[in-house]
Amino acid sequence: MKIIMLGAPGAGKGTQAKKIAAKYEIPHISTGDIFRANIKNGTELGKKAKTYMDQGLLVPDELVVDLVVDRVNQEDCSNGYVLDGFPRTIPQAESLKKALASMGQEMDYAINVEVPDENIIHRMSGRRACVDCGSTYHLEYAPTKEEDICDNCGGSLILRDDDKPETVKKRLDVYHEQTQPLIDYYANEGILRDVDGTIDINDVFAEIVKVLGE
Ligand code: AP5
Ligand code: MG
Repeated sequence: MKIIMLGAPGAGKGTQAKKIAAKYEIPHISTGDIFRANIKNGTELGKKAKTYMDQGLLVPDELVVDLVVDRVNQEDCSNGYVLDGFPRTIPQAESLKKALASMGQEMDYAINVEVPDENIIHRMSGRRACVDCGSTYHLEYAPTKEEDICDNCGGSLILRDDDKPETVKKRLDVYHEQTQPLIDYYANEGILRDVDGTIDINDVFAEIVKVLGE
């Protein structure tokens, strides 16, 4: 099963993608996580990506597309995968479609997690991410067992650099301008499925399972 997660920054794409990956035993591929790992490791890609990410802007398509196409060609993706944060522009979607078509494949679902802008800023200010493994929590909605310690690996939790309210506002503008058109794009492809992202995390997941099947 090949799935794309669509939705505004903070809609819960990563939260739901992790649950999908665990239930259906497919890899979770987050371009944001790949860039953050590169930034942490001080790679050239990380240095380039950081200048855009810190401003709330998209990293140029040419730095993203090959990276994802290479990743989905790896052995562990043979039964499918869940893409989180990619594609994010129409050109990225077209490149993905072309790359898959050349292998006789196509995406199965684009799950659009719908959350209004008003809810997003509050959500982002409460999000905490693990510096070591990238696991994501929320002070109110998805707290850790021990304050500021990652449940998964024991690492410390931080507020992401791009989760400051002014940067979140910019990311929302960029989302509406460059990524939202993908909703119509995948509706036209016949694979769009909308889910309400404002309800409890487990209820959102139950909606997604209804779409994907047990
Ligand atoms: P990326 O990391 O993809 O960030 P994003 O799309 O802005 O989305 P987020 O990760 O912020 O939110 P999310 O939807 O995953 O929400 P989460 O599950 O964490 O990208 C970062 C940057 O990298 C981009 O700005 C860009 O610069 C660059 N980039 C990445 N991919 C790119 C690409 N393809 N092209 C170009 N540039 C690219 O949830 C948010 C919070 O809410 C959490 O605290 C969570 O616990 C909580 N929460 C989740 N669901 C619920 C719920 N139902 N109720 C209450 N709280 C909830
Ligand atoms: Mg995410």
